Amino acid sequence: MSVYIQGGTVVNAEQSFRADVICEDGQITAVGKNLEMPGGATVIDAGGQYVMPGGIDPHTHMQLPFMGTVASEDFESGTAAGLAGGTTMIIDFVIPNPQQRIMEAYKQWREWAEKSVSDYSFHVAITWWDDSVHEDMETLVREHGVNSFKHFMAYKGAIMADDEILVNSFARSLELGAIPTVHAENGELVFRLQKELFEKGLTGPEAHPLSRPPECEGEAANRAIRIAEVLKVPLYIVHNSCRQSLEAITRARNEGQRVFGEVLAGHLLIDDSVYRHKDFDVAAAHVMSPPFRSTEHQDALWRGLQSGNLQTTATDHCCFCADQKAAGKDDFRLIPNGTGGVENRMEVLWHHGVSTGRLTMNEFVKVTSSNAAQIFNIYPRKGSVSVGADADIVVWDPEASKTISSKTDHQNVDYNIFEGMEIKGCPSHTVSQGKLVYADGKLNVERGAGRYVDRPPFATYYDALKKQAKRAEPVAVKR
Ligand code: URP
Ligand code: ZN
Ligand code: ZN
Repeated sequence: MSVYIQGGTVVNAEQSFRADVICEDGQITAVGKNLEMPGGATVIDAGGQYVMPGGIDPHTHMQLPFMGTVASEDFESGTAAGLAGGTTMIIDFVIPNPQQRIMEAYKQWREWAEKSVSDYSFHVAITWWDDSVHEDMETLVREHGVNSFKHFMAYKGAIMADDEILVNSFARSLELGAIPTVHAENGELVFRLQKELFEKGLTGPEAHPLSRPPECEGEAANRAIRIAEVLKVPLYIVHNSCRQSLEAITRARNEGQRVFGEVLAGHLLIDDSVYRHKDFDVAAAHVMSPPFRSTEHQDALWRGLQSGNLQTTATDHCCFCADQKAAGKDDFRLIPNGTGGVENRMEVLWHHGVSTGRLTMNEFVKVTSSNAAQIFNIYPRKGSVSVGADADIVVWDPEASKTISSKTDHQNVDYNIFEGMEIKGCPSHTVSQGKLVYADGKLNVERGAGRYVDRPPFATYYDALKKQAKRAEPVAVKR
């Protein structure tokens, strides 16, 4: 099976150039001019278009069991929707119940994900601590290609990780060559504010953002950063939504600390007025954590992306339909938290990022694929249009336009948070593992074609970090 992408401009993180691209047996085998077309190749005319690495969404939750229900998008429909939007790989999350053996949860998620139509990988959440967790982390890193562990600093009474868990797990991550990641919100404060608001009679979705102010996020981001600083381990903070967490990251990076920040397409483009919508279904459809913020925060997040202090964009794709959101009709605390977007991330970022001049095309590639591939140690297999890389490619038509709607998208959810947004610049073709899987608005995918992607530990770099951590050990005074 071969694909010949002809006449386009290749856009990588570091440069753009006119070239044809040949994909054979799942890999890119040639990038250049005047290439010899392999016999029987599928030809894609990329004239006037950009040929870029397929997107990597480093933060999704397909069919997640959460808040008494299960996310409506499963691994098959979710990865298919991603391909329709030019995203050729997702990194999803294994989230064990507290007290559940981590390996057991990991095996369960691997089983669920077998029906994926594009490549995928897993971060594994650490939701509790005992010797078995310590042991399973090593098994995951050494035998199962996991190099990142997630910690929810919110969701008290469910999956929240307290400081004891953070400290144990961050230290263990350093030993193993894995990177800890956090959902940064102070869960204790959120719990208290939720209770206070509810008791005052604020029971609707408008109370959701009030119960999770930016200060709660800034505090948790800073706490996680400082714990990582003391333990000398790198850190990745997911879905930064506000100025406060960006400032904590920027400060740490200026001090030389290795901290990475992710921003969601939704947090860049949607403001908190959505929670005051008259229609409960619309307001509830936007309930996610951290919540959408005021425009002041959106401006800060764009600046974070432009300055390089935020490196990746994601969606936190975690869909719940109106009947599921209705669980919180009388109590906002019970609305399942989550929104979609895996299909729209690249196009909304192109339209609002590249077309506005906020991002160059090369920066667009960085924040939609290459940086995630580098941070999670799968570069240049992913995130690069180069010989030897996986043939995961999006052909981008800068002139195509559309209006985003849940009526026409491929996502398995009844509401699109970008509903009605008019955008210019869309994928015309998506190639996944060297196969043309999306063209002319139509998907041609195969259930189960997606592969689990192993992500090796950061062995060499971490060896140096561990030595540094050792040097800091105090010496006992002999008396
Ligand atoms: O509201 C959200 N973000 N739901 C998914 C779980 C999480 O916090 O990432
Ligand atoms: Zn989260
Ligand atoms: Zn999430």
